[in-house]
Amino acid sequence: MTADNSCAAPHITANMPIGVFDSGVGGLTVLRALRRALPNEDFLYLGDTARLPYGTKSGATVARYALQTTRVLVDIGVKLLVVACNTASSVALPGLAEAYPGLPVIGVVEPGARAACQNAPRSRIAVIATGGTVRGAAYQAAILRLMPQATIATRPAQLFVSLAEEGWTEGSVVEDIARRYLDPLMAEFPEGGPDCLVLGCTHFPLLAPAIRSVLPQGVRLIDSAETTAQCVADELCARGLVKEGAGPGTARFFATDDPERFARVGEIFLGEGIATADVTLVDL
Ligand code: DGL
Repeated sequence: MTADNSCAAPHITANMPIGVFDSGVGGLTVLRALRRALPNEDFLYLGDTARLPYGTKSGATVARYALQTTRVLVDIGVKLLVVACNTASSVALPGLAEAYPGLPVIGVVEPGARAACQNAPRSRIAVIATGGTVRGAAYQAAILRLMPQATIATRPAQLFVSLAEEGWTEGSVVEDIARRYLDPLMAEFPEGGPDCLVLGCTHFPLLAPAIRSVLPQGVRLIDSAETTAQCVADELCARGLVKEGAGPGTARFFATDDPERFARVGEIFLGEGIATADVTLVDL
């Protein structure tokens, strides 16, 4: 870092990998969509498992963690960074842009807000997220920029993060907790409920069936992973950074704690196997 808190612009080329980070394994739901949309690209994924959850921490702390995780990825060499964590996306993007001016950075909140607006014919949008994301009101701001007439209600659902990390994704306990979070949120939309419910945390898509089972009929679930992947594809094209040459892309993993657990739980989120040997322990 220089005295003004910025780092030298990284040297970026099309054949470098794309960096992705989250507080833990939740961002692997985004990596899954990225790998599907961009099968030839290489990825580096960092899960800051030692410091999870981010959602209960202050914005200043999460912004500092985001700078530290990004530093690891930039030092290895990445051509674009995906902040696959809503909590970090809602507080850390300005600091990352300042520290790494030459690095394209894409968060998950804007793409999630766009997908929500596309699925809200009556402009009625509910959002569940971590406590930090709800406190920062980033979804409200992003949705209102696109749809100023929108009616929005948000609610923190932090326990979903622990359930997903634990691999508890279905059954009566999960449904009871989902009901506890969602009933009051649905009650904020009398006359037919919201048009859609944004899963404003990258851990939540794993609980989608349980969440859906307690929602009124017709409420669409919005997961920002697909729209984020589309955004990344567009950005690579626009900047001439699409990887050259054919052949399947690779993924390398980094965790700040317990690679064995990261691999075991992570493969549920990624939808493909992760060998413990492919997970490198890093210290921030
Ligand atoms: N998966 C993260 C998000 O999208 C954060 C979960 C947490 O660490 O609290 O917000």
